[in-house]
Amino acid sequence: MLYQNDEHVHVMDHPLVAHKLTIMRNKNTSTKDFRELVSEIGMLITYEATRDLPLTTKHIETPICGAEMPTLAGKKIAVVPILRAGLGLVDGVLRLVPSARVAHIGMYRDEETLEPHVYFCKTPQDIASRDIMVVDPMLATGGSADAAISEMKKRGCKHIKLMVLVAAPEGIQCIRERHPDVDIFCGAVDEKLNERGYIVPGLGDAGDRIFGTK
Ligand code: PRP
Ligand code: URA
Repeated sequence: MLYQNDEHVHVMDHPLVAHKLTIMRNKNTSTKDFRELVSEIGMLITYEATRDLPLTTKHIETPICGAEMPTLAGKKIAVVPILRAGLGLVDGVLRLVPSARVAHIGMYRDEETLEPHVYFCKTPQDIASRDIMVVDPMLATGGSADAAISEMKKRGCKHIKLMVLVAAPEGIQCIRERHPDVDIFCGAVDEKLNERGYIVPGLGDAGDRIFGTK
């Protein structure tokens, strides 16, 4: 489903995603269950975000006859988790795209200004020639995703997608303005941000809930 008829913003319109997100949003859900659900929903969104992967054909022998059959054209992909919480999504992407490389980008937000700072970025050498999937459970103000996407562009990346579980309208607007070339795939779009930059109703601090740090 498109968000506000914008062909670059794809919202999952699927009962499994809606159901699993509701379990995640519940503050009584355990760290173990929360982590497993991040991974599962990550896999479901990856399914949608890879819909445009190019196919070619190859000749195979079925038990019945020879046939030309579709196979992935072998596009090179890198998944880029924004540390920390983005790590929770890597496993789900890799389960569907096992050949993808992983480029880590470390980002922390100043607690007062909410400004993001990149403190670490380790990518495969051929990152510029890969299709990039930046992943993070939360798109709140959009500052972290904006900084991560800009860092990838600095390194020559041209084809970038952003995958998040929950987005705020403010975050979507930020990425659409700063990176009109980037498609956004999200599990849900929530109502708003609160005064502390948290998504409402949201699911709280995704990193703390994945890693059990609170
Ligand atoms: C969270 C989340 C995003 C960011 C979203 O990370 O995982 O990276 O906030 O907020 P924004 O859109 O306003 O930038 P956080 O900074 O809490 O770090 P963590 O992953 O280490 O918990
Ligand atoms: N980061 C989170 O982890 N949760 C929010 O709601 C906003 C930013």
